Amino acid sequence: MSYDLIVIGTGPGGYVAAIRAAQLGLKTAVVEKRKTHGGTCLNIGCIPSKALLHASHMFQDAQHFADMGIGVSAPTLDLAKMLSFKQEGVEGNTKGVEFLLKKNKIDAFIGHARIAAVGQVEVTGEDGSNQMLETKNIVIATGSDVTRLPGIEIDEKVIVSSTGALELESVPKRLVVIGAGVIGLELGSVWRRLGAEVTVVEYLDRILPGMDGEVAKNFQRILGKQGFQFKLGSKVTGVERTANGATLTVEPAAGGTPETIEADVVLVAIGRVPYTQGLGLDHVGVQLDNRGRIQTDAHFSTNITGIYAIGDVIAGPMLAHKAEDEGVAVAEIIAGKAGHVNYDVIPSVVYTFPEVASVGKTEEELKAAGIAYNAGKFPFTANGRAKVNRTTDGFVKILADASTDKVLGVHIVGPEAGNLIHEAAIAMEFGASSEDMARTCHAHPTLAEAVKEAALAVEKRAIHM
Ligand code: FAD
Ligand code: NAI
Repeated sequence: MSYDLIVIGTGPGGYVAAIRAAQLGLKTAVVEKRKTHGGTCLNIGCIPSKALLHASHMFQDAQHFADMGIGVSAPTLDLAKMLSFKQEGVEGNTKGVEFLLKKNKIDAFIGHARIAAVGQVEVTGEDGSNQMLETKNIVIATGSDVTRLPGIEIDEKVIVSSTGALELESVPKRLVVIGAGVIGLELGSVWRRLGAEVTVVEYLDRILPGMDGEVAKNFQRILGKQGFQFKLGSKVTGVERTANGATLTVEPAAGGTPETIEADVVLVAIGRVPYTQGLGLDHVGVQLDNRGRIQTDAHFSTNITGIYAIGDVIAGPMLAHKAEDEGVAVAEIIAGKAGHVNYDVIPSVVYTFPEVASVGKTEEELKAAGIAYNAGKFPFTANGRAKVNRTTDGFVKILADASTDKVLGVHIVGPEAGNLIHEAAIAMEFGASSEDMARTCHAHPTLAEAVKEAALAVEKRAIHM
C-alpha cells in the first residue's frame, strides 16, 4: 500500500492530523498499537479522569442538597458502578474516533509501527504478522509515558501511576500522592471526595509549578479546607511495600531528618516523558533533544525530510489541545498550506473544584522578563452568581502591559474557570487590551462578569468591589 501520509499514534495529535490531512485530499493511514483509538487522552488520561472528577463531584454535591431544600437520603457509593460509568464514557469517545477515521476514509492499522526507512513504515500485529507500508510523509504522534521514580516499582495496585489510580477497586483509607502537579491534584481530588485521607508530597515549596504563584497559593489553601494535607519541599527517598500497603521515607528536599508515612495506596505523579520506544529513530537518524523529545523545527519537521512529529513527543506543554492544534498545523503544512500554532495562547486547566485555569504569562514570568504590567483582580465573593450558588472561593486576575494595556496573561481559580478562560484566550488571540475586555458587555448574572470586573480592576475601576 502507498500513502501520502502515515500517522503513527492515534491520540489527540495523531487522529486530528489524519482527519485534517484527509479533508485536504491526502491519502492517509494511521497506525495505533492500542486496540482502541484516542491515545492516552481518551483511554487513560483526560476522558476517564474527567468522568471520575464529575462523578465524585456529584457524590460530594449530593451531600449538600439539603442546604437547598432538596430532601434525598445520604448518597452511598457503588465504586464498581462509578468505574463502569467512567469506562462507558471512554468507550463512547474511542468509538467516536474510530467512526471519524472511517468517515474520512482513513485506513487504520492496529499494530506496532516502526520506521524501517524514509517512506517505509513496518507494522507488527499482536500475532507477530508483519506488513510494510509505503508513504511520502510520516507524522510521529506517539505521545508520552509515566515518569518513574528510580528504585520504586509501579505495580498499579498499591504503588500506582495515573493509570492505576483510575482503576482502584476500593477507596484507600490513606492515599499518598507524590507530586503536586495536575495529575496529583486531580486524581487526589477524586479519591478525597470519595473518602480517602490524601497527603501530597511535593519536592518544590509550592504546588502546580508553572501556574501563577498567587493562584497556586490560593488554590492550596482551598484544597487544605477540603482536607488535603501537603508536605512541600520534601522528597521521597524510598517506598517499601508492606503487607497491606506501603511505607514511604520522606526527607526535606534540602536534606535533613527523614520521616516515614504509611499509605494504603501511593500515586506516583511526577510528570511524563516522551515515548519513542521501538520506533526505529536511531536507525533512520531522527534527532532527539537533551530531554528525549523528538527535535522539530517551526514546521514540525524533524532533521529527516518527510518525517514530522507533534504532540507530547515534542517540546511544549503536554496537553491534548496543544497536540490537536499541532495535528491540524502539520497536516496543512504537508498539504502545502500555512499551518501555525500560537504557543503564546494555549490555555491550561486543572479540573478540580474549584477549577484552575490560565492562559499567557504569569506574574513570575513577566517579572523575570522585566516587562512592566498592571494587574486587575476580582474575587468570586463579589460576583452575584457565585454568591447565590455558594461557590465563592477564588478570583480572576488579568495582567496587562503597563504601556499598551495589551492583555498578557489571565489566571483564574474559581467555579467554571476552565470555561471562563476561553474569553480571555480569544481576546488575547486578537491582541485585545484589558479595556477591550472591560468594554465588552457581559450577561448578568454570570460568573463571566468576574472576568469583566477583573479587566475593569486593571484600571482600578471595578464596580462591585
Ligand atoms: P497520546 O495521546 O499519548 O497518543 C499516542 C498514541 O501513540 C498512543 O495511543 C500510543 O499507543 C501510540 N503509539 C506509541 N508508539 C507507537 C508505535 N510505535 N506504533 C503505534 N502506535 C504507537 N491533557 C489535557 O489537555 N487535558 C486533560 O484534562 C488531560 N488530562 C490528563 C489526565 C491524565 C491522567 C493523563 C495521563 C494525561 C492527561 N492529559 C490531559 C494529557 C494528554 O493526555 C496528552 O497531552 C495527550 O494525550 C497527548 O496527545 P498525543 O497525541 O501527543 O499522544
Ligand atoms: P506535572 O509536571 O504537572 O507535576 C509533577 C509534579 O511532581 C511537579 O510539581 C514536580 O515538582 C513534582 N515532582 C517531580 N519529582 C518529584 C519527586 N521526586 N518528589 C516529589 N515531587 C516531585 O506532572 P503530572 O501531574 O504527572 O502530569 C503530567 C502531564 O500530564 C502534565 O504535563 C500535564 O500537562 C498533563 N496533564 C494535564 C491535565 C490537564 O490538562 N488537566 C491533567 C493531567 C495531566
